[in-house]
Amino acid sequence: MIKNSEKLTEARAIPKQFKHDNNKLLLGGLSLTNIELLLGSTPYYAYDKQIITEKVASLKAALPSDITLHYAIKANPYQPIVNLLAQQVSGFDVASKKEMLLALQTGMPANNISFAGPGKTIADISAAIIAGVTLHVESPTEISRVANTAQQLSLRANIAIRVNPEFELKHSGMKMSGGAKPFGIDEEALPELIPQLPFEHINLRGFHIYSGSQNLNADAILSTQQQTLSLATKLITLAQQYNPTKIDYINMGGGLGIPYFKNEKPLDIEYLGNQLTTILKSFKSKFADVEVILELGRYLVGDAGIYVTKVIDKKVSRGTSYLVCDGGLHHHLANSGNFGQVIRKNYPVAIGNKLAGDEREQVSIVGPLCTPLDILADKVTLPTATIDDYVVVFQSGAYGASASPKDFLSQPELKEVLL
Ligand SMILES: Cc1ncc(COP(=O)(O)O)c(C=O)c1O
Repeated sequence: MIKNSEKLTEARAIPKQFKHDNNKLLLGGLSLTNIELLLGSTPYYAYDKQIITEKVASLKAALPSDITLHYAIKANPYQPIVNLLAQQVSGFDVASKKEMLLALQTGMPANNISFAGPGKTIADISAAIIAGVTLHVESPTEISRVANTAQQLSLRANIAIRVNPEFELKHSGMKMSGGAKPFGIDEEALPELIPQLPFEHINLRGFHIYSGSQNLNADAILSTQQQTLSLATKLITLAQQYNPTKIDYINMGGGLGIPYFKNEKPLDIEYLGNQLTTILKSFKSKFADVEVILELGRYLVGDAGIYVTKVIDKKVSRGTSYLVCDGGLHHHLANSGNFGQVIRKNYPVAIGNKLAGDEREQVSIVGPLCTPLDILADKVTLPTATIDDYVVVFQSGAYGASASPKDFLSQPELKEVLL
């Protein structure tokens, strides 16, 4: 047992955006017990409306006013979140037909919805053309497929070319550009490809240049944005010679990160916004009416969500204390370290109904699956927990429920709520 009188507010595990009362975590003004009563059981994801709203507002205030903000639905496709964000952002990025329908159901104009991702089928392409959504084309084959489908439908397809630039985003959790990639068309292939585009069947609306996800280094992001805008300048200049319609936009993708692990610091968004204003000036002086879009996922919703699971068993094996919970990897793959992490690190966790306490112990927290990969937290020191206490995983609002193998081992259904 470890004695520790660390104050609640100083605990790294409780991010400052969350409120608490009487040593218990609150979300949307409700205790975790009341959320459980509302939903019927644990495990659940709970998302906080106010935190999302404030995050979007503070980002918009920091970014240059001529940046357009879109939400990348893949980060969290929970319909109430998509509905909420439809009121707060100007467009959606979708990665499948299902996400496209989700986006359209919010009333977002089709013109402000883009559909990216390799391997789109004819069914995906036809649906997007019929709806008027812009297809971000990822290969020459896809361009032909889009043109043929548009011709068959007697419609014109809105497209933007996804570009795989030569540069890459440094310090990024997941790189999506530079070198050989399945995403987009290599930048060097475009001078030959653009003049040959099937303009009779397509409207070329813009270029999509997205370099990577989960970046906490403002200077690395800015350097990529600068390179993106100078590449965009070349591509627009070239496209304007052949494209019968004007280029509407440049989409610079997502990628702003949130801190998950010890010693990670939140992005300095004021600095990013100020520097981006300067970088944008020169682009806008040439292309005043070309919209510059950021399509963010994780940054908008990631820190507004918690995953809550209940302690079912507590046991000691050869000196290690385990909390065994009713939720785990099957709901939260990223937290288990199996969604792109090279070395597993702990997300911030807490005992939600005992946020602080003098009595603390080191525990490993695991889920109910019969695999050593099912780890919620490894060797963390927390207030001493007992059966029926709540284990809370913070920073769980993005790439959580929808990015996890829910059916693995046929565990009970997961609940989600936006409060
Ligand atoms: C095309 C595209 N846009 C946007 C995003 C969102 O990225 P993030 O959640 O890092 O902002 C992704 C993520 O992979 C993506 O592939």
